[in-house]
Amino acid sequence: MPLPKAELHLHIEGTLEPELAFALAVRNGVTLPYADTDALREAYRFQDLQSFLDLYYGLMTVLRTEADFEELADAYLARAAAQGVRHAEIFFDPQAHTARGVDIGTVVEGLGRALDRARERHGVTTRLILCFLRDQSAESALETLEAAEPYLHRITGVGLDSAEVGHPPRKFAAVYEAAAALGLRRVAHAGEEGPADYVREALDVLGVERVDHGLRCVEDADLVARLVRDRVPLTLCPLSNVRLRAVDVLEEHPLPRMMDAGLLCTVNSDDPAYFGGYVEDNFAAVRQALGLGEERLRELARNSFEAAFLDDDEALRAA
Ligand code: HPA
Ligand code: ZN
Repeated sequence: MPLPKAELHLHIEGTLEPELAFALAVRNGVTLPYADTDALREAYRFQDLQSFLDLYYGLMTVLRTEADFEELADAYLARAAAQGVRHAEIFFDPQAHTARGVDIGTVVEGLGRALDRARERHGVTTRLILCFLRDQSAESALETLEAAEPYLHRITGVGLDSAEVGHPPRKFAAVYEAAAALGLRRVAHAGEEGPADYVREALDVLGVERVDHGLRCVEDADLVARLVRDRVPLTLCPLSNVRLRAVDVLEEHPLPRMMDAGLLCTVNSDDPAYFGGYVEDNFAAVRQALGLGEERLRELARNSFEAAFLDDDEALRAA
């Protein structure tokens, strides 16, 4: 039985499995530049974050209707539940859809239909986190937040993803301030490919409560001390780090050192359809490659509930 856990770093578009992508392509009359699912899987050899993002944004053009987003989320929740997930905080990228003429309402209402049934159908509680694409402009992020206002009852927080280097957190200071004023929780990807300074800036300028990845904090001892002292959760994604070459091999992942240093680490799947596994696959991989014992794995699962945007009684029930 997999440990009960919360998943806190999961891009719903990154759960698009090749089989569903082809089925949706047929349904929506979209032509994909791959002969079949095997050819598509063959293309999953990434050099870095950008080479992944190019394929990822291309494939998500098959997502067009509310029903598509509902089916995508329902498939993820079924898989996640089977891997011990009791609570999922799910990222979505509105700009990746609005840029191709799909309304933000289509995305949120479609995902929402699956999320509304998730507790009953899969035993999973959920939150939605709207991510801004950091390689788009700050104005576009502000427009996206404005477009999301009719749907804020469904949205718990905001995040920041896509190409990191050259797009520092401070670029998004204004939209994070506006999000905070709307009562939204704040997280951001930082220190995946970008430097430790981006992690510090995400805390200082954006006011994030949790850092997505945060891997490169290990290069800055003062920053590590601060993250430990303030119990700032990091949502690590070990299989993603290997596939996108943030680490050379899983055996060299800094997770054990980070836990030893007292960092509040969690393990998550990021884009499981692309990176070789869902969250329990990540737990199993770090157990194997890094020799993490049962106590360490239980600590990771406990951390995931502590780091979640759940009320205390909800966290107890979920765990
Ligand atoms: N990093 C940045 N942006 C992303 C990722 C990631 O790992 N996955 C999907 N969008
Ligand atoms: Zn991510």
